[in-house]
Amino acid sequence: MSLQGPKTAEWFGRGKKALVNGVSSGFRYWGDDDTLVIDRGEGAYVYDMDGKRYIDYQLGFGPIILGHGYKPVADAVAEAAARGTVFAMTTALEVEAAEAMRDAIPWLDELRFTNTGTEATMHAIRLARAVTGRDLIVKFEGAYHGAHDYVGYSTAGAPIGHLGNKRSPVPYEVSSGVPSTIRDYIRIAHFNDLDFMEKLFKSDGHRIAAIIVEPALGNVFGLMPEDGYLEGLRAITEEWGSMLIFDEVKTGFRLGLGGAAEYFNIVPDIGTYAKSMGNGFPIAAIGGRAEIMSAWAEGGVMQAGTYSGNSIGAAATKVTVAELATGVPYEKITKTGEALMAGIEKICEAHSEPAKIIGHPSMFSIFFGEGELKNFRDTAGHDEELYGSVIFGMINRGVMPVDDAKEPWFISSAHSDEDVAETLTAFEEALVEARS
Ligand SMILES: Cc1ncc(COP(=O)(O)O)c(C=O)c1O
Repeated sequence: MSLQGPKTAEWFGRGKKALVNGVSSGFRYWGDDDTLVIDRGEGAYVYDMDGKRYIDYQLGFGPIILGHGYKPVADAVAEAAARGTVFAMTTALEVEAAEAMRDAIPWLDELRFTNTGTEATMHAIRLARAVTGRDLIVKFEGAYHGAHDYVGYSTAGAPIGHLGNKRSPVPYEVSSGVPSTIRDYIRIAHFNDLDFMEKLFKSDGHRIAAIIVEPALGNVFGLMPEDGYLEGLRAITEEWGSMLIFDEVKTGFRLGLGGAAEYFNIVPDIGTYAKSMGNGFPIAAIGGRAEIMSAWAEGGVMQAGTYSGNSIGAAATKVTVAELATGVPYEKITKTGEALMAGIEKICEAHSEPAKIIGHPSMFSIFFGEGELKNFRDTAGHDEELYGSVIFGMINRGVMPVDDAKEPWFISSAHSDEDVAETLTAFEEALVEARS
């Protein structure tokens, strides 16, 4: 059975003639019969071309923290668009957006805007290399930091059986087209394993420019750090003079106003932000402590972008961050997320389905299986087939998380108690159907 109604199928057919596979990003293709075409979004809902409504937990892979088409943001963006958007000069709006970011995240002394998370991590890595004069970057198995060459290794799409021995993990190249020598600059680590990291630094520490980490694994079920783990990374990087980069593209403005740095009370050296800071408009930022960011001011470290700091993104950031700073959206998100996590757990228990509901209430996932979950390798026992069937059943019932459990469910302040009730009913029905 296809997820597409007749009009959606017709639009997808048209889309396929113009866009490769009918999509603009590889992760969005769900096969010829199940890739949807969306007409519009409104609050917590998206509507396909047949007018079918879905409660949306994809939220565009995370950014829509205030709900689709949130009016104060949309109005600010419309006003900015009418006043011109790029000038090759700084705008007042851009300054206000930067001030809002600094007020929200006090440890950021200075920042610069870009447009996507990919650009942000690319610049953060270059900056870390420039400041330390070293080449190596440590990244974690399962973590995703964007589509550029330096981080395309051992992401969550990599088959766990091909990652090498746990003591000496192999950087798994997830794309063709990357020069083979790039892999020489990457070291792969396991999340929540400080012993491993200490050994890695003992052998290579003097060559390591940075550890780049999603402080909670937003691309691996939303897995959280164990107590003391991020503190351990902080201590090791300080000892060896390496940079600690928090990739907060997913956690930023989602775990709370100050992101993961505030939530876990750790100050990294560099932070990267995107997604929730602009409620769906393309805007990102790289920020950090003044003595690091000053490398850009001194010159000789390239950072540039025609659209960086454009008025659309700046307006969206100014208004989104102001709205989040009231604290009201976080109260709603926490209540909704906690109700969903508890409800799903209860349903799984009632049906004797071994499951773990993992993550933070704003960004969580369901692991169908047993055993302790600390890092990417531990997720090998997840019953992907069951999860896929359950999500397919939910989408048929008008509730839409991503069909891959590694990508968490995202919660917005627009989701209501009624949405929670409808979601839990759909989950239970779909679970029973999948198991029958
Ligand atoms: C943690 C993390 N970093 C970076 C990126 C890349 O961001 P973008 O898709 O905006 O380039 C993503 C995208 O999902 C992400 O999850």
